[in-house]
Amino acid sequence: KTVEIIERDGQRRTITADEGVSLMEAMRDNGVDEVLALCGGCCSCATCHVILPQDVFASLPAMSDDEDDLLDSSDHREANSRLSCQVSMADLPDNAECRVAPED
Ligand code: FES
Repeated sequence: KTVEIIERDGQRRTITADEGVSLMEAMRDNGVDEVLALCGGCCSCATCHVILPQDVFASLPAMSDDEDDLLDSSDHREANSRLSCQVSMADLPDNAECRVAPED
């Protein structure tokens, strides 16, 4: 599956990953180093914050309360914000657009 990443400077790149990994892991494994993912994917750091298109966001399984709370701690939360470690590649449509959120 592919994902179109939009980095903080607006540069776009397409990455490829298996369905079995999270979006965060997909970005990390492809060297998208703006996504720090400091906690390693256990939903406690919010450094894997991304913003998705509305239709993609709406099609994903609902986020947990923990993810919701953590996103609230960001100054850059948008309506379609998610923590990428909590999004499975399996749930994303092919070639979804994923924008890296500004650094908090
Ligand atoms: Fe830490 Fe996602 S990697 S919350």
